[in-house]
Amino acid sequence: MEFGKCEVDCLDKVLRFRRDVRGNNFLDKKISSKKIEKILKAGIKAPSVGYSQPWKFAVIKSKKKRKKIYKNFQKEYKKSKHHFSNPTYQKLKLEGIKESYLNIAVFYKKPKRKILGQTSQKKMGEYSVVCAVQNMWLMARVLNIGIGWVSILKPKSVKKVLKVGREYKLVAYLCVGYVKEFLDEPELKKLEWEREMFLDEVML
Ligand SMILES: Cc1cc2nc3c(=O)[nH]c(=O)nc-3n(C[C@H](O)[C@H](O)[C@H](O)COP(=O)(O)O)c2cc1C
Repeated sequence: MEFGKCEVDCLDKVLRFRRDVRGNNFLDKKISSKKIEKILKAGIKAPSVGYSQPWKFAVIKSKKKRKKIYKNFQKEYKKSKHHFSNPTYQKLKLEGIKESYLNIAVFYKKPKRKILGQTSQKKMGEYSVVCAVQNMWLMARVLNIGIGWVSILKPKSVKKVLKVGREYKLVAYLCVGYVKEFLDEPELKKLEWEREMFLDEVML
């Protein structure tokens, strides 16, 4: 398979217009199971250390479970506030747990055997799961579906709600749904919370 300019331009566009979506931007609109499957299948096409494919997904539609997870977000968000004196922090909407159509918890399954490539750097399995998350994020975007990553959560609490065993480590908690709009720039850039870094600045 050889790609050309068309695919380069297309991928560039997808990367440029992928956004993190929060609760103020989700629509209450059904996502077909075919599209959900398409997003999950993009995840499992990701590269993984030693081809270990250490990812596990939990699709959460239950309002009751999401309410419990949202409660944990509220607790963690409250605790986080004292770290930021900037008043913008109090106004930020940092999740869409209840507003999105569904949530996906992405776990790393700890291996029982040695994994090729993971003998020196133990976190390579978890990094592989992050690759799966990015694939899902991009596939969702081309389906015009938004994803928002929520990290202001205690993994222990999420695992308790989802009744997930000790061998699983939470890597990502994603809110997934159709959106009112995809912002053309990261929201935190627009709000001047952080500024965009350019290539020459990130070169060592
Ligand atoms: C590992 C990770 C964790 C994140 N956690 C949160 C979060 O808890 N709440 C939130 O609103 N956004 C979260 N984000 C989204 C980032 O804020 C967002 O990606 C960044 O501001 C750039 O915006 P963009 O994704 O729209 O380009 C997270 C993103 C990543 C990669």
